[in-house]
This record gives sequence, C-alpha cells and structure tokens, in this order.
Amino acid sequence: MIKLKNRKLRWFFNNYIRTKINLICLLIVLIFIGISIGNTSPLIFGKMIDIIGNSNLNELLHLIILYFIVTVITKIISIIEDFIGQTVSFGITKETQKDLFKKIITLNQKSLQNYESGELISRLNGDADSVVNFFIDIITSIIQIIINTVISLYFILYISKHLSVVALFYIPASLLVNLSVRKYYKRLTEKRKKFSDSYFSFISEVFNNGISIKSFNLQNRINNRYKDFVSKEYKLLKNSILLSNIVGGLTTLISVSSSLFIIYYSAILIDKGLLSIGLMVSFNTYINKLFDSINQILSLNIQKQEIEVCIERLTEILLDYSEDEISGNKLIDSKLIDYNSISVNNVSFGYDERKAVLLNLNFKIDKQGFYSLVGKNGCGKSTIAKLLIRLYDTDKGSVTVGGNNIRECCIHHIRDNISYIQKEDFFFNDTISNNLKLANENISEIEVQQVCKNVGIDKDILSLCDGYNTLMGEGGDNFSSGQKQKLSIARSLLRKSNIYIYDEATANLDGSAEKMIIDFLLELSKNSIVIFISHKVSSIIKSDKIFVIDKGSVIAEGKHEQLIEKCQLYNEIFYSTK
Ligand SMILES: Nc1ncnc2c1ncn2[C@@H]1O[C@H](COP(=O)(O)OP(=O)(O)O)[C@@H](O)[C@H]1O
Ligand SMILES: [Mg+2]
Repeated sequence: MIKLKNRKLRWFFNNYIRTKINLICLLIVLIFIGISIGNTSPLIFGKMIDIIGNSNLNELLHLIILYFIVTVITKIISIIEDFIGQTVSFGITKETQKDLFKKIITLNQKSLQNYESGELISRLNGDADSVVNFFIDIITSIIQIIINTVISLYFILYISKHLSVVALFYIPASLLVNLSVRKYYKRLTEKRKKFSDSYFSFISEVFNNGISIKSFNLQNRINNRYKDFVSKEYKLLKNSILLSNIVGGLTTLISVSSSLFIIYYSAILIDKGLLSIGLMVSFNTYINKLFDSINQILSLNIQKQEIEVCIERLTEILLDYSEDEISGNKLIDSKLIDYNSISVNNVSFGYDERKAVLLNLNFKIDKQGFYSLVGKNGCGKSTIAKLLIRLYDTDKGSVTVGGNNIRECCIHHIRDNISYIQKEDFFFNDTISNNLKLANENISEIEVQQVCKNVGIDKDILSLCDGYNTLMGEGGDNFSSGQKQKLSIARSLLRKSNIYIYDEATANLDGSAEKMIIDFLLELSKNSIVIFISHKVSSIIKSDKIFVIDKGSVIAEGKHEQLIEKCQLYNEIFYSTK
C-alpha cells in the first residue's frame, strides 16, 4: 500500500514536476546562496554584542555595515526565490489541471459516471494545487533544511558542546508528537475532501434545478440541507483547529523547556567563564534554526499524509483510460467505411455487471431507410443508441457498421458519421447561430437558416429582436422545450452524417410539428440511415422497419402492419399511445 502511494507520487513527479526542472534547479541554487549568506548573520550579531562591551566602535561599525549588506543580499535573493517559486508552482498546477480537465471530458463513460459533478469540480480545483505546492515545498526546503541543519549543528557544537545536549531531548520529543498525530491528519483530510465533493455536488444540483425547487416549494428543505453542510464544515474546522492546537501546544512546550534549559545552563557556563553573552545569543539563534529545520521535516511528514489523499484522487482520474486510449484506430485517416449497414450481434450489456440491461440483442439494418426502435420505458432503447456511438462498449457480442466492428474503429470517426440526438440536448449560453454551428463550424449562415426552415423553427427565430444572434441562456433556458428540440434536430442535420439516431427527439413537439419533422426525416432517410427511438408508435408507423424491444432484447421486427398483426406488445404500446 505504502509502495503504491509512493509510486503514484513518483509518477506525478516524473510527469509534472520534472518538466520545470531547470527553473527548479535555479531555485535551489538561489536558495543555497541565500541560506549560506544568511547563516552568517547570527554570528555577526553575536560578535556585535560582544564588541559593545569592549567599546571598539570602529570594529562595531564594520560589523554593522557587514550585517546590513548580508541582510539586503539575503532579502533580494529571497524576493527572486519567491517569484520563481510561485510562478513555477502556478505553471505546474495549471499543466496538471489542463491534463485533468482533458481527461475528465474524454474519460470513458463507464468510469465517468462513478463521479458526481461536484466531486469532479472539487478534484479539478483543489487537489492539483496542494500536490504541486507540496512538491515545490519539499524540493525547496530540503536544501534549506540540509544547509541549515549542517551549519547550525556545526556552530552549536563549535560554540558549546555542553549546551548542545538539549537537542537530544528536543528531537525525540518532537518526533514522538509527530508520529502520534499524523494518522489523524490523514483521516481529517479524507473527511474534508469527501465533504467538499458532496458540497459542490449539492450546490451544482441546486443551481441547475432552480425552477423545480421553487415549484415543489422546496426552498426551506434545501436551505436546511445547506445549513447541515455548514454545520458539518464547522465541525470539521473545529476538529482541525483542535488538532493543530494540540500539536502546536506540545511543540511549544518542548521548545520552551529547551530554551529554559539553555538559559539556565548558559548562566552556569557564563558564571564559570566558559561562555560569553554574545556566544549565548548566537547559540540560541543557531539552535532555533536547528529546531526549525526539524519542525520543517516533521511538518512535511504530516503534509505528506494529506498529499497522499490528494494524489490518490488525482491519479484515479489521470491514470484511468480516456476514450482515445480504448478507441481502435481503423479508418482514422480515411472515410472508407461504408455506413450503409448496421449489425448488432448477440449483444449483452449492463451499466453494472450485476444487472444486464441488454441481453443477447440482435438486429440488422442493411440499407438506408427509416428504422424505429420502440418499447416501454427502461427497456434499453437509449442504451442501444449509446452502444452504437461507443459511449459504452458491449460486454458480449459485437456491433458492426458497414461490416467493421466498431471496437476496432476510431471513436471520433464513428461519432463524425453517426449523429445521436437525445431528448434533452445541450445548448450553451451563446447565440442560436453559434449553437447550431457546434455541429459544423464551417457551415454558412444560409445553410443554418435553410435547415431551420426545414424543421419549422425559422419563423420563431426571426420574430426575436436579435434573430439568429439571440442568446439562448444557460442550457438554452430562454427557449421552450419544443423549440429546443427543433433546434437540436436542425443542428443534427447540419452535421451531414451517414446515420442519424433520434432518441425521443420529437417527444416535446406538438402533433403537427412532429409530423412535419418526421416527413422531413423520411425524406432524409432516402440517402442515410435514420433510427428513430420512441415509446410512441403513432409517430413511426411509416418506418421501413420497426424493432420492438422488450427487457433488452428484440422480440419482433417488421413493418407497422405486420407488427399489428403478430406482436402483442406492439399492439399494447400502439393503442395506449395512439
Ligand atoms: N447511466 C446509467 N447507469 C446505470 N443504469 C442505467 C444508466 N442509464 C440507464 N440505466 C438503466 O438501464 C435501463 C435501460 O435504460 P434506457 O436504455 O435509458 O431505457 P429506455 O428504453 O427508456 O431508453 C434502465 O433500467 C435504466 O435504469
Ligand atoms: Mg430512453
């Protein structure tokens, strides 16, 4: 387990931190110079104090100038260090976030559906930042820690070996505190991350469902749930404050005891003439530097517990398979594939291995035409469509298009040629024209307008003040569900694909609008395969072939008149939705 986590930390280091290794090396050199120069100041300061007693003003002036120069140089170096450090860590964080974002939007659907949207937002925003800062912290502080430890150890031993024994108490005592609390830090981090995942998911659900919340009068309940989140966060904060205060308190106790010991023991040594006051001040500064270094190591150790949680969350996504990685590459460069036939052979599939949604499903389409899939809610119609565009892969059996197993074909190539239009399609808060051009950015305004005429939405658009330049609102909220369906059908037509799958895509249209669109699609089906998915039989009676789906299998197929004669389920659906 520990090895695995370290392997992931190493993987992250090699992939992201190493890319900026030149700047990091420069940073290390600057830190080295800065610390080496800065470490002379306690000695100079101690000498100044001793000279005050000797009234040698000339030498004191030299030391004051030296001290000033050392301070200015170390400050300038630390400003440059800070600038480079911050820009490097920002750069690496953004690189990680770019990769994470890309992975999220290309992640295979089966993995993606394991995450709530808030969880993805929280991983994208919170985790990369913490991991990168940890690495930069380690890299930059390791050199600082080593130099500080070596120099301060040298000086404390040089100034007084007797006084140095205090370290023998400080180091094991601090280590003991650290080892006993670090597992609590890890647990707390896990809780905090889980909290932020569910918090962001809750917020995004609420903001996306404003109208439903109001219409169900759920404001108070939602408000109370928000209050629950706040009190949970409050509790987590209290635990975190408590923990850091306990650690802080114990650490202070250890360091105060050490300092008091130093004062007492110094007094004895000064009394015996074995130590000067100036050297005592220098010793104090060096030993505090040593203690600081030890504390830095210990706090990095605690931080590592938190980072292990973040790295696990990052790599879970970054190392998962994207669609590109599971895609075949057949026909990637050419359009040789013949999209005139589809064959679904003995396909079984389940979103969850415990429950099959499709079971030994078979159907064939061997020429262009208008085909329909009908069946009751939940029988697997949309799932079939999702397999056809490879949103999911079959568990058993195969899907072939133009004789090619789609598992061997390039996913992008398939999706360029098979358009899948859902009942609730997506729109961005952009103009109508730009939303339609998502189908194909090279399309002309005239083509956009022609297609809108074909689906009967052009008059609605022209009656708007800004016409095709009207903003659609978030998710297209400024338009009715029927208008959005017409627009999404128009957009699909602009894609000029070989196969179109309309999944309940006319469900929100009134009778005459639906008829107009179906007539148009019947025309379209002379040169392409149109698959129309519906739970309403009345809209598909003119189909060239209808497949009746029940519990994930095709139980009958044929023309409307044949099915009315031979299929009981088809009759049931036909008469109930007529
Ligand atoms: N993303 C999903 N994860 C888990 N189960 C799903 C998912 N999508 C659909 N299902 C389940 O699969 C079955 C078939 O769904 P679907 O194909 O959407 O039916 P429909 O015929 O109404 O289009 C249903 O029982 C549904 O609950
Ligand atoms: Mg469906």
